[in-house]
Amino acid sequence: MPEAPEKNLAMDIVRITEAAAMASARWLGRGDKNAGDLAAVEAMRNSFSSLNIKGTVVIGEGEKDNAPMLANGEKVGNGQGPALDVAVDPVEGTNLLAYGRPNAISVVGVAPAGSMFNPGPSFYMRKLVVPHEAYNAVDIDAPVHVNLKHIAKALGKDVEDLVVFVLDKPRHKELIDAIRAAGARIQLQTDGDVAGALMATDPRSEVDCMMGTGGTPEGVITACAIKGMGGEIVARLDPQSYVEKEAMEEANIDIRETLTTNTLIKSDDCFFAATGISGGDFLHGVRYGAHHTVTHSLVIRAKTGTLRYVESYHNMDKLSKLSAVRY
Ligand code: FBP
Repeated sequence: MPEAPEKNLAMDIVRITEAAAMASARWLGRGDKNAGDLAAVEAMRNSFSSLNIKGTVVIGEGEKDNAPMLANGEKVGNGQGPALDVAVDPVEGTNLLAYGRPNAISVVGVAPAGSMFNPGPSFYMRKLVVPHEAYNAVDIDAPVHVNLKHIAKALGKDVEDLVVFVLDKPRHKELIDAIRAAGARIQLQTDGDVAGALMATDPRSEVDCMMGTGGTPEGVITACAIKGMGGEIVARLDPQSYVEKEAMEEANIDIRETLTTNTLIKSDDCFFAATGISGGDFLHGVRYGAHHTVTHSLVIRAKTGTLRYVESYHNMDKLSKLSAVRY
């Protein structure tokens, strides 16, 4: 039976990422990562209160580095409407924002209650993200050169044509050496692997795939976006310290399990929104004008696979009289 169109919650949550982006972009390049993050967290928390959902934050980024955060378990929304798991990253790339580098974004994902992977005490996850043509072509246990060969074949390219997004971290030395030895090219960025994953699945970007270890919460948020973008994330929890490993053993978490898009988000009925803060290859940053502030967002409804790029002109003369958030 054809279904009547349902409410597209992504069109609601984009108002939340827009608010967080507009509040935090004031801190672009000012060297204070917590101030930018705090501005985004407060704007996000405030904006959620107008949303008709019974939301529970399952992915509240920040615990890893004691940054300001929407806490795991925190209730968001006005308590009416659908019960949802909520993933938030008010500023994904706090250092990118603080040091005026590209690709800091604000992101929110929502999915039916109980369908989001709960990372527990896990902070780090090894990830492999590929576009939809390379769905099923990669194996988290395979050597780097083998995965690159399969990705290139699926994309109808040579390995030398590929661009792999990798976070520029000391832990990735071996990975970077292996990618170089295989002959592929690399886009190295200091932070922001959600943006890296989005670029890997976006046919308009020159990035073909993403490899390496980043945050576990960011991995779940990425899966929420991939549900609608198409493509695949294959991942495995990858504790980076003895303390993290022990905490996971105590919580009975199997770190050998291979995680995929469908195990990270167990429903297709999920929504994702991202708004550019510092601007970059795939989303423009916040532009403050005399009367309007302009934001650029990506909005995804997974069930239909519809992606929308939304350019919003926020009338600051009116908004400053109405909004509880200070922009
Ligand atoms: P923050 O916004 O919390 O600073 O995260 C940025 C980020 O680069 C993520 O994109 C990535 O998943 C994670 O940090 C990697 O963690 P670390 O910087 O500790 O290696």
